[in-house]
This record gives sequence, C-alpha cells and structure tokens, in this order.
Amino acid sequence: KYKGIIFDLDGVITDTAEYHYLAWKKLADELNIYFDRKINENLKGVSRLESLEIILKNSDKVFSDEEKHYLADKKNDYYKEMIKKITPQDILPGVCDLINNLKEREIKIAVASVSKNAKTVLDNLGLLDSFDYIVDAEKIKNGKPDPEIFLNAADGIKVEPCCCIGIEDSKAGIEAINRAGMLSVGVGNPETVEEADIILKDLSNPSDLLNLI
Ligand code: G6P
Ligand code: MG
Repeated sequence: KYKGIIFDLDGVITDTAEYHYLAWKKLADELNIYFDRKINENLKGVSRLESLEIILKNSDKVFSDEEKHYLADKKNDYYKEMIKKITPQDILPGVCDLINNLKEREIKIAVASVSKNAKTVLDNLGLLDSFDYIVDAEKIKNGKPDPEIFLNAADGIKVEPCCCIGIEDSKAGIEAINRAGMLSVGVGNPETVEEADIILKDLSNPSDLLNLI
C-alpha cells in the first residue's frame, strides 16, 4: 500500500535535535533566560525565528526585529560549529538498514526538514545522495504543523499523500503529517509524538516499519 517514506531529519535520522537544544541553551544562558528540555520539546520541528520567539516568552525584555535576527544568527553560529564534527557514525541505529531495505523494495524516500542546515548535515552523514528527494526549506512558505512540507515531499517523489508514511520526532511534525493525510510514525519522546498513528522508540528495528508496507 505504501510507496513513499518521508523522513524528518533532526532527531529522526541523526541526533541533531540535541545540538539544536544545546545551541539554544547556550544562547538562553547568555541572555539569562530560563530554558530547559521541557520547553525545548516545543521547539522541535519549529523554524529558527519561531523557536526564538518561544524562548523569549520567558524574558521580560522587549527585543527589536534586528536584535531577534542577531540572536537567531548567533544560535545558528553555535549550531554550525557543533554540526561540523558530524560523521556517518552519527546516523541513528537502524536508519541505514531501513534505507537499504526500502530501496530494495523500490519504495521512494524523501527528507522533509525545515532546517536551512539540512543539506550540510546530510552531507556530513554521507547521505546526501541516498534520498530520491530532499525538500528545499527555502521554498516552503509555511512551516510545520502546516502540511505543506510533507505535501511538497510527496510531490517530489511522485507518490500520492495517502500512499506515504511520514516519520517525525516533533509534535508540529506529527500534526503536519496527519494534516497531509499520510500515516504518521512518531519516534523519540512518546508524549511529544502522542498524536502519531504509530509510536516507536526509535528506528533501530527496521522491520517495525517494513511490516507496515
Ligand atoms: C528543524 C529542527 C528545529 C529547527 C529547525 C530550523 O525543524 O527540528 O529544531 O529550529 O529545523 O533549523 P535551522 O537549522 O534552519 O535553524
Ligand atoms: Mg525533528
């Protein structure tokens, strides 16, 4: 039934969700703004500037647009420094196996990440040429939870949305997949992905997914 699988990147293919957290945490500490992992769950899948807005809710100070851009750039500099050291060893367990199995079955695979750093991360992982289609974040008008990015990915692999499975570690991402009319698979924190059709701890057992196809 399913002919396409659309992967989120950060927190699904590799643990860059942790680097996003650490980079925001560094910025928040410098600004003396309270920020913890619980708040961070709401940042997953959310664009850079929207993430900053969520963090700044815990500050009494008012920031101009110019200051906000400066802060978002600063976080991105921290993040870019962290992802420099990514290698193929940082691909999460089971992901390579899953990709190879899907290719053998001629299932199309795509990446749907709103991160402007997605291609750098995929390149460092050695996965840039492994996917049939990678969504260009610059071309997406509405971020997750809007379904646009998943619909764009389905279009890119030429598979009807109803024949696609989307895999996400974020609340916004699961909502986007559900609204796109795809089967949603949630990995990571089960509370964060509670709206998913299927919840897995991780992708370490590829047959969990292959059995759905
Ligand atoms: C992904 C991550 C978010 C991140 C967003 C933008 O969705 O889950 O944590 O804020 O991408 O990433 P960028 O690399 O463009 O700042
Ligand atoms: Mg993610």
